[in-house]
Amino acid sequence: VHQWRGVIAEYADRLPAELSQQVVTLREGGTPLIPAEHLSELTGAQVHLKYEGLNPTGSFKDRGMTAAISAAAARGAKAVLCASTGNTSASAAAYAAKAGMTCGVLVPDGHIAMGKLSQAVAHGATLLQVAGNFDQCLVVARELSEKYPIELVNSVNPARIEGQKTASFEVVDALGDAPDIHCLPVGNAGNITAYWQGYREYADPAAPGANGQAAATGTPAMWGFQAAGAAPIVLGHPVEEPDTIATAIRIGNPASWQRAEAARDESGGLIDMVTDEEILDAHRLLSSREGVFVEPASAASVAGLLKMHAAGRVPAGATIVCTVTGHGLKDTQWALKGADGDDVEPTRVPVDPDGIAAALGLA
Ligand code: F0G
Repeated sequence: VHQWRGVIAEYADRLPAELSQQVVTLREGGTPLIPAEHLSELTGAQVHLKYEGLNPTGSFKDRGMTAAISAAAARGAKAVLCASTGNTSASAAAYAAKAGMTCGVLVPDGHIAMGKLSQAVAHGATLLQVAGNFDQCLVVARELSEKYPIELVNSVNPARIEGQKTASFEVVDALGDAPDIHCLPVGNAGNITAYWQGYREYADPAAPGANGQAAATGTPAMWGFQAAGAAPIVLGHPVEEPDTIATAIRIGNPASWQRAEAARDESGGLIDMVTDEEILDAHRLLSSREGVFVEPASAASVAGLLKMHAAGRVPAGATIVCTVTGHGLKDTQWALKGADGDDVEPTRVPVDPDGIAAALGLA
């Protein structure tokens, strides 16, 4: 009997040896790459969704967190800390619980989805709502980790990037080669950094674990998308008061800003922005046509792809992967709104087959 062992065990030879010393895993990774027929038809490309909501805590953060917590465990750390818009805190809390470490999380006051808050609490983290936004939380978290014996597990921790790069390996392993284009949402910009590193290493015969043989013939163009109200990289300057309904990417001064620009430029890609309306349209399309339920920030990748298609920038027949980063159950309020923005109310029916048949449009 074989089950997926988690990203460190599956890709050990491609990762720093220190990660394998004391592995803390919830068997993250191994997520499906789902062909998206409706999106393919709309764009004239072959579109696939890398559904990262199916990780143990419901987001891609688990790939990086197994690495960060395993590295911390190998160093004998007893306490970890992160700043978060929600998913990192949920993941850090779960992996710290598994490792028997204490976990502190700093989240911006308000603007964090209830599903994510409930995870951090359930896993026993000390949850602190800071009177500030995510960028301010990260500044304080960095200071704390320098002054006190507590390890920072944000994506400025190099182990996080190592773990998250495995998503690119899985895409190439599933497709048999790199896609032409890879779309993803950009917040603090760790993930676009990690994907680009993973793609480069898989195309490089001299990379760790490659044994002189490249696993892919090339690398994709990296297409990153920020929310229009939180688009510092697109605008070329930090955004003091970032705002978007996609709270996961409500970030005005990304820690990996330069590395995101490098990924864009080295890959021949782009970083653009999408409005909240475009994000919610893509969110509805994913739910209603592709059967894939995501949180709003995740839909930014698909919203961006559709925006680029409308601008005539999607080559016909291209192989495209959109990462959808987090599960829809994280932040359910948007699913309960119709396209008009009104709350969707269930239709009430009596216990009566004929009445129900009428409500179903059968009679
Ligand atoms: N999508 C989701 C669902 C996220 O939670 C995040 C980041 C991103 C996309 C953007 O990824 O930061 O690597 O560019 N969430 C972080 C957090 C900031 O605290 O959970 P990024």
